[in-house]
Amino acid sequence: MDSTAITPDMTVNLAGIPLRNPVMTASGTFGYGEEFAEYVDLESIGAMVTKGLSLKARAGNPTPRIVETPGGMLNAIGLQNVGIDAFIAKKIPFLRTVDTPVIANFFGATIDEYAEMARRLDQIPELAGLEVNISCPNVKQGGIVFGTDPACAFDVISACRKATGKPLIVKLSPNVTDVVVMAKACQDAGADALSLINTLTGMAIDLNRRRPILANITGGFSGPAIKPIALRMVWQVARAVKLPIIGIGGIMNATDALEFMLAGATAVQVGTASFINPGAAQQIAADMEAWLSAHAVADIKSLIGALET
Ligand SMILES: Cc1cc2nc3c(=O)[nH]c(=O)nc-3n(C[C@H](O)[C@H](O)[C@H](O)COP(=O)(O)O)c2cc1C
Repeated sequence: MDSTAITPDMTVNLAGIPLRNPVMTASGTFGYGEEFAEYVDLESIGAMVTKGLSLKARAGNPTPRIVETPGGMLNAIGLQNVGIDAFIAKKIPFLRTVDTPVIANFFGATIDEYAEMARRLDQIPELAGLEVNISCPNVKQGGIVFGTDPACAFDVISACRKATGKPLIVKLSPNVTDVVVMAKACQDAGADALSLINTLTGMAIDLNRRRPILANITGGFSGPAIKPIALRMVWQVARAVKLPIIGIGGIMNATDALEFMLAGATAVQVGTASFINPGAAQQIAADMEAWLSAHAVADIKSLIGALET
């Protein structure tokens, strides 16, 4: 081994949450952490994000609700989750034993529900931060999605902000004309960080049956095919806001993750890759460190936003 090889500093600070490395798991692709404990050393990754939580348990959509596509997958899980009470009673006891920050992803159907969730989650000492999924229809305002209307996003994030002192991360939808407008609205409302991107709306058709493959007809598109779109959005938002950014979308390996950091991400989340290899997040973190070492980069923070254009 090269005697001059360095051990790089992999730590980053995400809106006040210290991470041992920038690799997090993406909501909905890593259960509540415990499901992956036999495949991943949970204390080797930067942070875990839970499946999206709501006030009441949800059974989700009818099946089929996942379909593979070239370069990615479509899912229409329908935000199935155990609900906040079961999360506290059944999931927190395990998470408490793991020395890795846990971030709760959550959603609601109204502004009041979002605020109530933020208030309840705020009281859970084991949570390092909250990630708000605003890609949900606002039932009171005729189904308009909070994540596609900047005024709605401002209102819902303002309400969550008042309800929690924990780091508040807003997860942005890519299904908008201008993601920067949404990012600025969330910054103005008091968000501490932004995650992007969530899935793109897509669909798949079974020609012979002349029917959609997903029971829900449409679903969220994720995986390697969305990476260029996600990279572009991270880059645009990083230039326009002051908040730290978590890059998400088609990250399959360390190269992908490091590209997101150059584009301006402070941390990254690994989603669909965990369906192919449940140990993907751990592997990506280890390979990122090896890349830094091989390229004599002493501190991963020096790569954040270091893209040369
Ligand atoms: C099966 C599945 C379930 C998901 N559930 C959620 C969820 O509950 N909340 C959320 O904010 N994002 C959810 N996502 C979106 C992912 O967290 C991530 O933003 C998206 O998949 C893009 O990353 P990827 O290409 O690495 O998978 C889900 C994605 C998949 C594939």
